[in-house]
Amino acid sequence: MTDTSFEKASAAAGFVTRRTELRPRLAIVLGSGLGAFAEQLEEKTAIPFAEIPHFPQSTVPGHSGKLVIGKVAGVPVAVMQGRVHAYEGYSSEEVVFPIRVLGRMGVTQLMLTNAAGGINPGLQRGQLVLIADHINLSGRNPIAGATDDRLGPRFFDMSEAYSGRLRLLAHEAARTMEFRLDEGVYLSVLGPSFETPAEIRAFRTLGADLVGMSTVQETIAARQMGIEVLGMSCVTNLAAGLQAEPLSHEEVMETGRAVEKQLAGLLTRLVPTMG
Ligand code: HPA
Repeated sequence: MTDTSFEKASAAAGFVTRRTELRPRLAIVLGSGLGAFAEQLEEKTAIPFAEIPHFPQSTVPGHSGKLVIGKVAGVPVAVMQGRVHAYEGYSSEEVVFPIRVLGRMGVTQLMLTNAAGGINPGLQRGQLVLIADHINLSGRNPIAGATDDRLGPRFFDMSEAYSGRLRLLAHEAARTMEFRLDEGVYLSVLGPSFETPAEIRAFRTLGADLVGMSTVQETIAARQMGIEVLGMSCVTNLAAGLQAEPLSHEEVMETGRAVEKQLAGLLTRLVPTMG
């Protein structure tokens, strides 16, 4: 019988655990253009995704693809600098594999960050927004298929996918930094083409504030394992039809780079209060 996701994730977790003495309970996934935070970890061990057994490799510029384990203010954290997306041709099982590895390493809290288009007209480019809930329009679900009880149940509650408790902590951290932190509903699409203006109007009608191509699969896999999730989007652009200029990956990366210091500051304040 071929190895299951559970066995592969356990093997990868064992590999990572042998490379460091730190045992992080908290993990952070840094999205497009948002990788800077990983550089400031103390006592860090960086492991390229390519070295970790069964890990998928990112093919997108701006997603450098390393797992960095270190400390922030004395608290051990595992930081994924980059991720893979379904639009690169990966199955949703492959997309969530790193989350399952983190879970098998003993992580119980996960912060997912991403670049997103702003659909709600009240949002501005460059703003950080907490994800209050999501709408999965990617057409995929990482739990679909053969089940493995060792990962968690097949049917599970998603009524508080993004932890209210962790969101409160994020609001407190933002308040000490005196910046505005709105909340919004994140809608996920498969991509990689950006949306049409008609799609964005439809998504607005559905109740979405943000649109992006990641995060939702990871949240679902984490919730199956009982991991608490906090999600944060950086509004890298206004969604299609809401800004004069055409959308581009360059704009997404440029805005990400402009905001990554603010995000790093927020994470540095937030991490010691989580856990
Ligand atoms: N649409 C989808 N994904 C995105 C966008 C967008 O406008 N911006 C950043 N990621």
